[in-house]
Amino acid sequence: MKNIAIIGAGTMGNGIAHTFAQFNYKVSLIDISDASLEKGMNTIARNLDRMVSKEKISETDKTQTLQNITTFTSIKEGVKNANLVVEAATENAVLKAKIFKELDDVCNENTILATNTSSISITQIAAATNRADKVIGMHFMNPVPIMKLVEIIRGYNTSNEVMETIVALSKKIGKIPVEVNDYPGFVANRILMPMINESIETLYNNVAGVEEIDTVMKLGMAHPMGPLQLADFIGLDVCLSIMNVLYDGFKNPKYAPCPLLVNMVMAGKLGVKSGEGFYDYSESRKAEKVAKMFI
Ligand SMILES: NC(=O)c1ccc[n+]([C@@H]2O[C@H](COP(=O)([O-])OP(=O)(O)OC[C@H]3O[C@@H](n4cnc5c(N)ncnc54)[C@H](O)[C@@H]3O)[C@@H](O)[C@H]2O)c1
Repeated sequence: MKNIAIIGAGTMGNGIAHTFAQFNYKVSLIDISDASLEKGMNTIARNLDRMVSKEKISETDKTQTLQNITTFTSIKEGVKNANLVVEAATENAVLKAKIFKELDDVCNENTILATNTSSISITQIAAATNRADKVIGMHFMNPVPIMKLVEIIRGYNTSNEVMETIVALSKKIGKIPVEVNDYPGFVANRILMPMINESIETLYNNVAGVEEIDTVMKLGMAHPMGPLQLADFIGLDVCLSIMNVLYDGFKNPKYAPCPLLVNMVMAGKLGVKSGEGFYDYSESRKAEKVAKMFI
């Protein structure tokens, strides 16, 4: 396995591309517009610069990593030689089904199709293809270049062979894979998102302010960052769609998204990526400060 295609150059896609390229895989990074690709490549270059300045990698490693990535606006062109496609486009079940149908049509019959979805059923995504045995969840954590965990999700029809290949590949790029079964939210988000939603509910109920809630969780539970700041970092739109997947999937009111979260997403307050969420990131330096905490 040498050629990897990544669909989506956003928060996760550029991190996944960065990681595979750093381990010398040939990466095709695909997005819908040149502007998104340019933004993604600039983020990768900035993150590599930070790694060089912290002496985690050399200047030569940085150049080689960037040279390993080619960008495309066409899925058909970008996946031509791919042994594996990792889809990291917007969290939307209809969009993912459309992308997987196209991938099934244009990819080589042996190509494995992985999705980085945070919560959408792998089995449902696989149903859009005629190769459900080769569809798998590869759930990287944010920020991808430094977070060790990859949740590997076995869809209803995923073959053992594909599971073994993806577990081995994850280890080759320095990650620690954990195998889980395909139920809403898998493991990570089934536990994390209700905690984030509850912290938003705590704010909504006026129990305490943003900084107070985050401070309680940081100092009291030894979390590296508070849940509201983490929500900003993940993206409030992503948090909302994951809560909706849990709510729809389990039909249990305990997963109902907090009305404040719904309102903030409708108002375009999406966290770091939009410049404002529970915290204000309007000055670019502030957003950078948050990113620096990780890479
Ligand atoms: N943000 C996180 O912390 C996080 C963590 C783990 C998993 N995820 C999952 O990763 C996926 C991507 O999330 P993100 O936070 O990177 O989102 P994002 O909004 O930052 O990026 C999504 C990218 O997908 C592109 N895109 C949309 N439609 C496309 C198409 N048809 N073809 C190609 N590109 C397309 C968009 O232009 C955008 O650049 C989602 O499924 C999300 O649930 C997110």
